[in-house]
Amino acid sequence: MSSEHGTGRTDGAGHEAAAMRRALALAATPGVPLSPNPRVGCVLLADDGATVAEGFHRGAGTPHAEADALARAGAAARGTTAVVTLEPCNHTGRTGPCAQALVEAGVRRVVYAQSDPNPVARGGAETLRAAGLVVEAGLLEHDARALNRVWTLAVEHGRPFVTWKLAATLDGRSAAADGTSRWISGRASRRDVHRLRALADTVLVGTGTVAADDPALTVRDEQDRPLERQPLRAVMGESDLAPGRRVLDGSAETVHLRTRDPRAALAQLAGLERRHVFLEGGPRLAAAFVRAGLVDEIVAYVAPVLLGAGASAVGDLGISTVAAALRPVLTDVTVIEGVAGEQPDVRLTLVPAPLPAPRGSDHPEHPAEHPVDQPAAPPAPIPGGTR
Ligand SMILES: NC(=O)c1ccc[n+]([C@@H]2O[C@H](COP(=O)([O-])OP(=O)(O)OC[C@H]3O[C@@H](n4cnc5c(N)ncnc54)[C@H](OP(=O)(O)O)[C@@H]3O)[C@@H](O)[C@H]2O)c1
Repeated sequence: MSSEHGTGRTDGAGHEAAAMRRALALAATPGVPLSPNPRVGCVLLADDGATVAEGFHRGAGTPHAEADALARAGAAARGTTAVVTLEPCNHTGRTGPCAQALVEAGVRRVVYAQSDPNPVARGGAETLRAAGLVVEAGLLEHDARALNRVWTLAVEHGRPFVTWKLAATLDGRSAAADGTSRWISGRASRRDVHRLRALADTVLVGTGTVAADDPALTVRDEQDRPLERQPLRAVMGESDLAPGRRVLDGSAETVHLRTRDPRAALAQLAGLERRHVFLEGGPRLAAAFVRAGLVDEIVAYVAPVLLGAGASAVGDLGISTVAAALRPVLTDVTVIEGVAGEQPDVRLTLVPAPLPAPRGSDHPEHPAEHPVDQPAAPPAPIPGGTR
């Protein structure tokens, strides 16, 4: 943690760490929309460590966490320490700049976890320092970044975070030789997919999947009823969608991205303020994203099913030898218990392997996007990660 001006209190560090944990919990309040804004919490502390007020952001168009806490504190905000999970913003968007609001309220000191990666909003810390406040950055930063990992990547890279979901047989197939693919995974896994879809703001498939499966791509509950808030349905590819396809049924918004360039598709989605794409295939589209280094997370449902023939879960990645295999890193393995007498499936969650540091560099930093066609020393990781 870095201290500015050398005048920061240190005796209240325990209170501040506890307040930051509380602010993180407030930020993670269930029901807060995960997009397009970050989740942010704020706690105002008196000198003796007592909580004066708390606040959190409830989504785009509502007051920011600091403004929420300041409104609750009223005049009692004067002289407090604001403990906030994200650097107070410096710009006027749908709401006013928080840095200015903290200054005007007479807050004495600000402790924040994560610096604002948003070029439009950053600069709050300097505004606060210029006004004479003591500012400390970095308290529980790792936790704050983890809380907003999708938003952070989206803002840092100017494109949505991409989670690629696949369902495959034991022999890695996503469809049988005759093209049939429903249902490879069990009912419980499909329910789990709906849960994950609901965490994203966009569900993306290729025109081939729409033609073959006619998926609705909506989020439905356990009784198969559509949820109120639906992600955008995006279909990518140059061919027209046949009329009457379920993605065109009006039960959620749909956009047809008439391109085969994953980067151009993500740019269009970023323009629609989309932060998190849930890429559901099919194999050719998934391969295009992997090859472009634009997959940030993989969620694979592996079913105890053998086909022996049929399409692979992912198309050609341009890999001809095992030394060049992509080796993403497992972060979670969960057995999805079967329901109604079905066998369980296994859900694997993976992230791209970190790229090796450039020769002669002490910094393990690496570009997050690493096209496969760029020469790389084997074994090549799944490109796309920042972790
Ligand atoms: N098990 C699973 O998890 C899963 C998930 C989804 C689908 N599937 C199965 O996959 C099968 C469909 O496979 P698919 O590969 O045809 O589906 P797809 O990947 O959804 O669609 C392929 C089409 O997408 C378009 N496209 C857009 N950008 C592309 C790019 N960069 N590279 C290649 N194509 C691009 C092309 O059509 P244009 O001519 O329109 O450009 C292409 O023909 C179905 O049997 C489906 O059931 C399985």
